[in-house]
Order: sequence, then C-alpha cells, then structure tokens
Amino acid sequence: MNAAPLQFPKDTPDVYSVLDSEPVYDASIHLIEDTEPEIKLDMLADFGYSAEEIATFPSPVAVGGPFPLLSAKGIAAIKEILESIQPTDPDTGNRASNAVGGCTYKSKFLQDLARCPELIKRMSRAAGVQLAPHSIPHMQMYINMAPEDITQAVDNWHIDSIDYDCIILLEDPASFEGGRFQYFRGTDKEAADIFETTPDKLPLGFQTDLPADKVVTVEKSNAGDVVCQQGAKVVHRAQRLFKQATRTTVVISFVPADVNLKDGNNIKSIIGWDQPGTSTELARHVAWRSSNRLNELTENLSTNTDKQAVIDQLKSSVEDVNSLIGLLEKS
Ligand SMILES: [Fe+2]
Repeated sequence: MNAAPLQFPKDTPDVYSVLDSEPVYDASIHLIEDTEPEIKLDMLADFGYSAEEIATFPSPVAVGGPFPLLSAKGIAAIKEILESIQPTDPDTGNRASNAVGGCTYKSKFLQDLARCPELIKRMSRAAGVQLAPHSIPHMQMYINMAPEDITQAVDNWHIDSIDYDCIILLEDPASFEGGRFQYFRGTDKEAADIFETTPDKLPLGFQTDLPADKVVTVEKSNAGDVVCQQGAKVVHRAQRLFKQATRTTVVISFVPADVNLKDGNNIKSIIGWDQPGTSTELARHVAWRSSNRLNELTENLSTNTDKQAVIDQLKSSVEDVNSLIGLLEKS
C-alpha cells in the first residue's frame, strides 16, 4: 500500500536556526526539464544477493544512473544557501568528516527540494520502486564536502542506515581528480567479511580496500548529475581527492512509499547518533507507518478472518511502534 508522504514537522529542534532570506524553490527552474532519459540500472542479483533476499527488498535495483537533474540555477541556489548554513553535527567517526546535516530544517529551499514530487518521480524511476520523501527529517538531506586533509576519503566504505538515496554532484567532474562515487558489486556480507566485521556494523565506515575488479567508479558528465542507489544494500564510498579542489554532493534520502514493506531504516544506529529531535522524529516515522497499516485494516479486514490471522495482522500493524518503544527504553 503506497501511503501519502508524511508531512514535515510543524516546528524545528531549537538547535537549528532557519534561514530567513533564501531563494524560493521551483522545480521548473531548479531542475532540468525531464526528458525521461534511459537510465542505466545495475541489479542486486548481479552483486550476489539471492532471489529469496531480493524478494524481501523494496526493489531489485542496486544503482540507477547517473543522469542529469539540477539546472545551473538549481546548483547556484544550493551553493548560495550553503554559504549561509553551518554544520551542526560533524561526524567524528570513520565517516564523512566535512558534512552539513539538518539541511531540511535549516533551509525551506532545501526542504522543498528534498520533498519535491517531480524529483521523487525521477528518482523512483531510477530506483525501480515508488519512493516518498524520507519520513525522518534529519535523514532527508546531507551535504558532503571534501575534508581539508585530502589524503582522507570524502566518505569511507559503508552502507547507509536508510533504504534509498541519491547523490547529486554540484561541480563539473572534470574540475577535480579522484573524489568519484564508487560502489562494490558484491553483497554486504562479502564486504563485511573483508572488513572482518558484520553487515550491521557497515554504516560505521571502513578504509580497507575492496577487490578492484568488483569496484565500479561512477563517471558523471556534468555538474548537477545524479545517481540513485538502494544504499542499505550497496557498499559505497566517495573516493579521496588526489588534488585540492572543491567537491560538493547533495545526498537526498527517501523511503519506499509502500509502508507494508519491512522498515529498511537502521533505527538502532539512528538512535545511537542522537541527532536533535531524534526520538520525536522516530515516533512520527513509526506512527506514519503503523497508522497507515491500521487504516488499511479498518477498511479491508474481512469479517470472515479467523482469530489467528486477526492477531497476526494487528501485531504486524503495530510492530514498528512496539519495536521503537523497546529501543528507546533501552537507549
Ligand atoms: Fe552513503
């Protein structure tokens, strides 16, 4: 069942200040015209995931793209906004060390971009499944810059804690050396074995090299190009720069619109990051999923359903809520 997108919260965690002067987002100006380009798709089956595993994922597509998305005006507007918003949550672990989080709280333009139906239509095409704006606002957008020390990767090998995201490059790829988006054509388990860890730890980030013959380097052609991935299943990184340069990517995340699919968000790791407003964001996220499931039950539950099936459906409708309560109580 495809649910209507969860609305953005009515207020903002106190730690964020909201820009009071910025461009107004308009898809007809800030995105390029949709020519419905043929999108190159890389499939999870070719990574080594089994048919049984893939049947439980939202879609069989691993990576879609790259293809053009932002117009020159769109890039200019984001760069202008980036001058005014500050990092509030630098990641001091093994991940991107120079990133701006909380973007959709800080800027109405960025919020409208991340939630734009036109953008989501195009990303759904690349993902092979109907997507919706991410239902956890601080996950909706990160902006990643290269670290000062270019010997460090822009972002180390990892999987995402969310199902789907797209990565939009703001500079001409010919203007920097290295800094490419790369992904591993293998499973999460295979990468975890190489890193001597377990798949659930992959969001932490790892520096060990992966076998070069299974690493794909995505070659974008122009500033504003995008690639879309099922980031929870694709081990990926942003390679280091080989020369000092400006390299900026806007990472926008999504959820599958079908709330009957298993929640692909790594709620445990999101709680661990303890971003501003995390428990309220997660409460709204699970309430959105469960309330839609309950509504479906009120509309469709047959009076001839047997008792055990009723119990199972009720449990399944509220399982995300119960699971979150347990995780928050333990945190
Ligand atoms: Fe990622």
